[in-house]
Amino acid sequence: MTASNIVLVGFMGTGKSTVGKQLAEQLGWIFQDSDAALEQEHQTSISDLFRVHGESHFRALESKALEHILARKGQVVATGGGAVLAESNRACMLQNGFVVALKASPEIIIQRVSSDTSRPLLQGNLEERVHLLLEQRKSAYDFAHAVIDTTQLTTDEITALIIQQAE
Ligand code: S3P
Repeated sequence: MTASNIVLVGFMGTGKSTVGKQLAEQLGWIFQDSDAALEQEHQTSISDLFRVHGESHFRALESKALEHILARKGQVVATGGGAVLAESNRACMLQNGFVVALKASPEIIIQRVSSDTSRPLLQGNLEERVHLLLEQRKSAYDFAHAVIDTTQLTTDEITALIIQQAE
């Protein structure tokens, strides 16, 4: 593997954490999750960070956490679904790793995220929120080095594809 890190980006529910953990295990690399790092650093949940400080403060903390994580090598990094919205974050990811965007159909996304009701941006009518955000972020993930539509694929297949493409 020549890449210094593998960075997974994608909408909520596209499987970044599941795929990332398996990929890291297979490569013998460390798995990092930017949301989990933020929760650990601030000793609180992502929804509390949003609720107490607001989304723009959360985005600033998220950028700092990503910069910190990506200063190291040999990691598979799962990023929060909105981390790609800042151009500086996209540049930092592209500079410090092989960036893979995971995509999935709205139906699969809705099915996956419905088991976790804590996501702050998906409060209210889940289907409406997912469709609206997907529309707003239509091409937000296309800057990646590789884009994988995971809709018809198993975790094993996605992992193998990433290893193949990152080499
Ligand atoms: C967000 C995605 C979440 C989390 C936060 C905001 C987004 O991460 O960072 O709720 O803006 O898409 P996951 O993609 O891991 O759910």
